[in-house]
Amino acid sequence: MNARSRSCRRPWGPGFAALSALLATAPAACQAPGQVASPDGRTVVTVETTDGGLFYRIDRDGAPLVLPSRLGFALRGAPDLRDGLSIAGTNRASVDETWEQPWGQVRTVRDHHNELRVAVEETSAPGRRFEVVVRVFDDGVGLRYVVPDQPGLAEVVVDDELTEFAFAENADAWWIPSDRPRKDRSEMLYSRSPVSVLDSVQTPLTLESPSGPVMVVHEAHLVDWPRMFLAGDQIEERTLRAALAPMVDGVKARRATPFETPWRTIQIADRVEDLQPSVLALNLNPPSVLDDTSWIEPMTYVGIWWGMHIGVNSWGSGPIHDATTDNTLRYLDFAADNGVGGVLVEGWNVGWDGDWIANGDVFSFTEAYPDYDLERVAAHARERGVALIAHNETSGGLANYESQMDSAFALYESLGIRAIKSGYVIDTIPGGHSHYSQEMVRHHRRVLETAARHGIMMNVHEPVHDTGERRTYPNMMTREGSRGQEYNAWSGDGGNPPEHETILFFTRLIPGPMDFTPGVLDILRTDPDGRERAFHEPRIRTTVAKQLALYVVLYSPFQMAADLIENYEGHPAFEFIRTVAVDWDSTRVLEGAIGDHVVVARKARDSDEWFVGAITDEQGRTFEVALDFLDADGDYVAEIYADGPGAHWVDAPLELAISERAVDSNTTLSLVLAPGGGQAIRIRPAG
Ligand code: NOJ
Ligand code: CA
Repeated sequence: MNARSRSCRRPWGPGFAALSALLATAPAACQAPGQVASPDGRTVVTVETTDGGLFYRIDRDGAPLVLPSRLGFALRGAPDLRDGLSIAGTNRASVDETWEQPWGQVRTVRDHHNELRVAVEETSAPGRRFEVVVRVFDDGVGLRYVVPDQPGLAEVVVDDELTEFAFAENADAWWIPSDRPRKDRSEMLYSRSPVSVLDSVQTPLTLESPSGPVMVVHEAHLVDWPRMFLAGDQIEERTLRAALAPMVDGVKARRATPFETPWRTIQIADRVEDLQPSVLALNLNPPSVLDDTSWIEPMTYVGIWWGMHIGVNSWGSGPIHDATTDNTLRYLDFAADNGVGGVLVEGWNVGWDGDWIANGDVFSFTEAYPDYDLERVAAHARERGVALIAHNETSGGLANYESQMDSAFALYESLGIRAIKSGYVIDTIPGGHSHYSQEMVRHHRRVLETAARHGIMMNVHEPVHDTGERRTYPNMMTREGSRGQEYNAWSGDGGNPPEHETILFFTRLIPGPMDFTPGVLDILRTDPDGRERAFHEPRIRTTVAKQLALYVVLYSPFQMAADLIENYEGHPAFEFIRTVAVDWDSTRVLEGAIGDHVVVARKARDSDEWFVGAITDEQGRTFEVALDFLDADGDYVAEIYADGPGAHWVDAPLELAISERAVDSNTTLSLVLAPGGGQAIRIRPAG
């Protein structure tokens, strides 16, 4: 660790604005008091007061990126922390250190930033104090509030966080809405519109402008605070405001002092290809609190799952109950025989009969249905070296889940069950809190801590969005929080359009992994009676090769092979799923355009193998991919899973061409992708 720290007292004078432009690229040690630059000097954040209001702004390469934007709080039962503010002093520090992830898209992460802490106080009574902390990295900015313990401010009831983002340009945003009745989740398709027309959107919000850099607005280290949405201001165009998810009484957050808020983050990159692999949120989270992470292991998994979504099986008891002992033994054997790490079982526990979405208070997390012998399947999983993944759908019954959590997790631990997929399929939490309220954020942290104590890894569906928790709790493996493959099973609009995953890569997947559940090879979803789906019916809107490419493109440390295992048996494409890595040493985005295409190369961890994944939207495309990332002295074999002749997502999605060829670091491969298609390549050392 290389940290420098120094402080400067008292605010700056009137010549500050002119001076600040001059100092924009100056080293941290001689910057103006309210200003801090990124290590490369390109990004400069200024914190200043104007007429008693507190503002920050961001300049990049000397041009404004974020115009003066307000900071502060609206409080309940106390005057707002908004006006009559002055800067009492500043303090700065610099960090340049490299740390290693136990698993991830990259092994090592460099945390190189300059920090400015700005002490703020009210100029008149009650003279309350808080700090604004800014960290500026080459790849973006983090900004948070710290409210110290102080006389007369033991507790704060927050009605609103007043943080604004006043964008200098009317950039195009890739967005999904928030605050829609009965749609307060994240499982929606993205739209693209200028910032000026947005009213209420979710983060991460990715912004592209023709002349400026790409930006992603999000948050990091979300603990004991509500999730942030962004609200458009109809009066001031291009300004978005933090809009926190409310509790039932409308209060956004209740905190005793001292406390710190999550970081508000703006990731900045010259090109969209530079947005991934994103580490900004990871660098803004505390290091791991788990000393021993050796039990935490990325894996591929199959599951008793897709059959329920396509309606041929049921979660609840009855003749088509999927989670039977025999079926689970079959899945466990299939996994063991094919090097697949885990088996998810949904519908094993009592509580699914009837309207399970409405009955969140009746689920048992320990009692199995009579046709599911939990001890027996767990013993078989242990014998065969396969991770049994327990499913815990809560339907939002937080009290029911929390009351059973300790005993359920202890039971799982005793049976060698080391992973849980949880779920929160509801729109509003019983009692009326938003799905993303402070209460919910607290709940998720309690679950994660309990899981860690019992040696359990988490995969959360309908989660609060990823803000980098996996650095502190490396058992926080993956989560859903977007429209995944399941929509191709039953969505009224027919399923995810071909461009969907090319958008997810640059939006939802920026802060963290997604359990998208790729790998359905029975694209046309042939019914048991042989009937293929009509075009307007829900089905997979990709080619087979694209399903394979998604394993490389859409990062997740738990990567599902989502199809029924009978669709894998004897299928030549399954060989790719069997061999694809799930943990990475390094990741490179070779080509990318949001909504159009993505080409990614990743080097497997602890291995000399590389994988390339390329996906396109409804347009066919060809990419020339130079394999110059390979070891210069190495000879390799590329196993290529390409769209076959005439492949097309509409009427020929099953056309697949598998080939093999010798390659080395001088090879350039021509990747030909069909409309709605993709290509997946495994590159292994020859011999
Ligand atoms: C929604 C989840 O996303 C899905 O994977 C799960 O099967 C159902 N809820 C039931 O819990
Ligand atoms: Ca879901």
